[in-house]
Amino acid sequence: MRVEEHPILGKLQKAPAVEIEVDGQVIQARAGEPIAAALLAAGKHIFRYTRKHHQPRGVFCAIGQCTDCMMIVDGVPNVRTCVTPVKPGMKIQTQHGLGKLRSTSVDKD
Ligand code: FES
Repeated sequence: MRVEEHPILGKLQKAPAVEIEVDGQVIQARAGEPIAAALLAAGKHIFRYTRKHHQPRGVFCAIGQCTDCMMIVDGVPNVRTCVTPVKPGMKIQTQHGLGKLRSTSVDKD
């Protein structure tokens, strides 16, 4: 469900529809909207599971100030999806725990 007509702003202009992949499932999104908005519109409310107790988390603050909406986006963990815009063809995964950090030269020493 999306807000298409606002009581003050009136009828909202629609951005072009694009497809993104979420946990292997293709969903419709609007180019440029936050990833979290696309997921909520598609009925997905669990974005990650906590490391220690494996508790589900989803949108909490929606302004990029907490960590509850973090997911793996195009292979990059810990992406705050409430402030990250949709791009066509993105691959998004539910994150379990902290996510893996990329290896660095320090890891190899
Ligand atoms: S919901 Fe808090 S950072 Fe996204």
